[in-house]
Amino acid sequence: MNSFPTIHIRGTGGYLPERVMTNQELSQLVDTSDEWIRSRSGIACRHLAAADECTSDLATHAARQALDDAGITAADLDALVVATTTPDLIFPSTASIVQSRLKVAGFPCWDIQAVCSGFVYALAQLEGMMRAGMFRRVLLIGAETMSGILDWQDRGTCVLFGDGAGAVVLEAGEDDGCGLMRSVLHCDGSYRELLMARHARCQRAPNTKNMPALEIDAAGVSAIQMRGNEVFRVAVNKLGEVVQEVMQVNGVAQQDIDWLIPHQANIRILRATAKKLQLPEERMVVTVDRHANTSAASVPLALNEAARDGRLQRGQLLLLEAFAGGFAWGANMLRWSRD
Ligand code: UT7
Repeated sequence: MNSFPTIHIRGTGGYLPERVMTNQELSQLVDTSDEWIRSRSGIACRHLAAADECTSDLATHAARQALDDAGITAADLDALVVATTTPDLIFPSTASIVQSRLKVAGFPCWDIQAVCSGFVYALAQLEGMMRAGMFRRVLLIGAETMSGILDWQDRGTCVLFGDGAGAVVLEAGEDDGCGLMRSVLHCDGSYRELLMARHARCQRAPNTKNMPALEIDAAGVSAIQMRGNEVFRVAVNKLGEVVQEVMQVNGVAQQDIDWLIPHQANIRILRATAKKLQLPEERMVVTVDRHANTSAASVPLALNEAARDGRLQRGQLLLLEAFAGGFAWGANMLRWSRD
């Protein structure tokens, strides 16, 4: 191996909880309709974790599938990272819980928090660390139980999210023309109040003094608060910019892109990004209709689905992107390494 290896995705996995909640069912809980949810967001249903199912449970299922797919065991790993906004505990990390569930120990584990952009951020972070030679094989999981931080009486948010986990096995190897390319990441914290959930301690934080008083649940967490319309406008704008930027830093033209694998927040946002790229909709991987917004899990779940159903072919150019609370957004580019 040369001193700067190329980082490849060797395996993928995914897990969705058994329980499916339809829009119809939601319309019995809040003042909404299947027609409104489908036409405004593209969502038809979402999976919800059972009462005793934690983020680490979903993550462990997806992890096992990705390890099997890569033909390795957890003992072969050098690090494990979980991108999540809904960790089991404040600490220790969900990654350390998954490590112990996989019955291994010793290698480093940590969580990364960039909300819906967590997977895209983590992929960029790990690519840099692995290229520098720190790790050879890493398991990266995006996992969320968003249902636990929703206000089920707020129709503006509860209809939009779902639970799930997706995972990839990353491996440093030879440069064979495939693998991860350069990523771009951004954040603008001045938008933080448009999309947030607070911990009880944040009631005292001066930077939230303009926010309305919150009901904090028994676990000390407030539900997601979102000014959807404003988030929508900035998301479309910033995603349009970031896909151009990631193409530019990688010296790639629009017509070279084979697949757009976007964060799945709203079909109208996905379509706006595809349009910006002049990419036919069939070249975009869509799961939002069945999964809703699973935050950090949505990109790896979409990637796993397209890998397993045979859409992704070795050498094809993939563009991954996400937009999140913060606001934090970014994009990754890669050539698919698997046959
Ligand atoms: O994951 C990353 C970040 N999240 C996002 O990217 C989400 C971004 N935002 C969105 O996807 C969209 O803004 C929404 C799907 C949240 C809303 O769509 P919209 O077209 O922006 O609708 P709106 O917020 O402008 O609301 C239109 C109307 C309002 O009624 P009035 O004031 O016009 O009478 C809302 O009260 O729709 C009403 N409304 C609903 N009606 C039925 C809001 N939620 C619902 C609902 N069912 N669930």
